[in-house]
Amino acid sequence: MAPRVFVLNGVNLGTLGHRRPEVYGTLTLNDIERLLKDEFSGVEFEFRQTDHEGEMVGFIREAAEASGLVINPGAWTHYSYALHDALEAVDIPKVEVHLSNVHAREVWRRRSVVSAVVHAVVAGMGVDGYRAAVAYVLSRGGER
Ligand code: DQA
Repeated sequence: MAPRVFVLNGVNLGTLGHRRPEVYGTLTLNDIERLLKDEFSGVEFEFRQTDHEGEMVGFIREAAEASGLVINPGAWTHYSYALHDALEAVDIPKVEVHLSNVHAREVWRRRSVVSAVVHAVVAGMGVDGYRAAVAYVLSRGGER
């Protein structure tokens, strides 16, 4: 059976391509999703984006039986204990991704409340961060 990987993008990430391209690049979320589909053609992806925190909690729960989960929570990264708790409850390979290097920006971006409940964190690699995250969760497949 094809591995099933959830790629979840949170608040404001639907505006990628237009929003601060000097920080986040010029690719849209659609471009990123297409790129992942092309590169990992054997993977059944579930791509989701929402600006609503409760909806994101639902997506995380939905991923419970999947092979892996890649999440860029956007600004929720820095304060959402609801996402922390939802991620903690899902026992599959999980990676937190940030397009930008959050450690080289405002001080408040250096803190993530979700990093403690994922297996790995990627920041500052742009779209390559999503690629690396998908490759990683696939490499951990079967460990759940
Ligand atoms: C982000 C970094 C966050 O601090 C910011 O709020 C975002 C995007 C990133 O991908 O670099 O919305 O998660």
